[in-house]
Amino acid sequence: MEVNKSNGGGISPSEFNGRSEIAADAPNAIEVKNIVKRYGDFTAVDDVTFAVKEGEIFGLLGPNGAGKSTLIRMMTTLIPISAGAARVDGHDVARDPNAVRRTIGVIPQALTSDLDLTVEENMNIYAKLYDVPAKRRKEAVEELLETVDLTKWRGAQTKTLSGGMRRRLEIARGLVHSPKIFFLDEPTTGLDPVSRVAVWEMLTTIKAKRKLTVLITTHYMDEADRLCNRIAIVDHGKLVALDTPEALKASVPGSNVIEAHFEHPPDDWEVRLKALPGVTSVQNQSAGMFRVLTSNGSGTTTDLVEMAVVAGVPLKTLTVQNTTLDDVFVHYTGRQLRDELVKAYTFVMPQSPGVRP
Ligand SMILES: Nc1ncnc2c1ncn2[C@@H]1O[C@H](COP(=O)(O)OP(=O)(O)O)[C@@H](O)[C@H]1O
Ligand SMILES: [Mg+2]
Repeated sequence: MEVNKSNGGGISPSEFNGRSEIAADAPNAIEVKNIVKRYGDFTAVDDVTFAVKEGEIFGLLGPNGAGKSTLIRMMTTLIPISAGAARVDGHDVARDPNAVRRTIGVIPQALTSDLDLTVEENMNIYAKLYDVPAKRRKEAVEELLETVDLTKWRGAQTKTLSGGMRRRLEIARGLVHSPKIFFLDEPTTGLDPVSRVAVWEMLTTIKAKRKLTVLITTHYMDEADRLCNRIAIVDHGKLVALDTPEALKASVPGSNVIEAHFEHPPDDWEVRLKALPGVTSVQNQSAGMFRVLTSNGSGTTTDLVEMAVVAGVPLKTLTVQNTTLDDVFVHYTGRQLRDELVKAYTFVMPQSPGVRP
C-alpha cells in the first residue's frame, strides 16, 4: 500500500484504507476471558471475552463511559482485574505483570509528553526509562522521529507543538523500546480530520516496518472502519458485537440507507415509512429528517417518493447509501453514537473543572 507520510496530498478520512491482510491461523497476541471490573456496586466492564491476532489492528468502539479505558488499563497491568483473566503475548496479566510490561507500549488517553522538554528529550527520557542500550536508543529515536515526521522539530520544546504533533511524538515515544503490542487509548480524539489521517498513516507505516499488534480505542466510526481489521463494539461495559467492519455492516438487516428530508410530514409518517416493502427500520432523526434502512434501495426509493407525492408532502432532499458503521451501532445498542457524543460534549462545558471529555 502507498502511504503518504506527510499527508501533503490531503487525504480525507473517507479515502484512507490502512488495513492489511491477517492470516486466519495467526497466533493470539491478546486473549481476554470473561474479564470484569467492579468499582463498588458499579460494574464498569462486564464479562468481556475476545482475542486479538498477531499483526492485527483491533478496535474497541464505544461511547464515553462504555468501559474502553478500563479494559485497556486492565490489559496493560495498570489496574487490578475483578474477575476473569487476560493474557498478553502469552503472559498472564495478573500473575506476570512485569513480563507483560516489557512487551507492550501504551499511549494513555490524556496527553502525557513533558511540555518543558524538547521532542528529542521526551524520546530519550523514555528510552532510558525502558533501559534501551545507548546505541540502539540513538537509532530508534532517529528512525521513529522520521516515521512520525518530526525530525525537523527534534529540538523544539514540546509546548510549541500542535495537538496532532504531540500525539505523533507520543506514538513515537511509546515505540522506542520496540514493543510487540501497542495499546492506544483514543489517540485521535480532539484532532482535526487532517491530523487524524496523519496519525492513521503513521500507525500504518510503523506496522509495515515492525511486527506490531495494535489495540486502539475510539468513538469515531470512520476511524474504526478505515483502520481496524476487526472491531469490538462495547456499550455499558458489555461487548455487544465483534467482527470485521464489512461483516458487521452485513449483519445489519437492510443493505441500503435512504436519508429523506420531508417538509411538515404528518404525525404517522414514520409508521407509514416503516410499512413500505423492504423497510427494516426507520429513525426520525430531526424534524422531517428520516433515516430508512431497506433491503431494496431502488424499490423503496420509488415507493417513498410516490407516497410523498400522493400525500402532498414535499420532499426536500433524498440520498441513498450503503449501510455504515453508524447503522451497525444503532442496530446493536439501540441508539446513535453521534447522539451520545453530542450529549456528552454538551455536558462537558469548558467551565466545569475536573470533568474529563
Ligand atoms: N476509578 C473509577 N472509579 C469508579 N468508576 C470508574 C472509575 N474509572 C472508571 N469508572 C467508570 O467506569 C465506566 C467506564 O469508564 P471508562 O473505562 O473510562 O469508559 P470509556 O473509556 O469507554 O469512556 C464509567 O462509567 C466511569 O465513570
Ligand atoms: Mg476512555
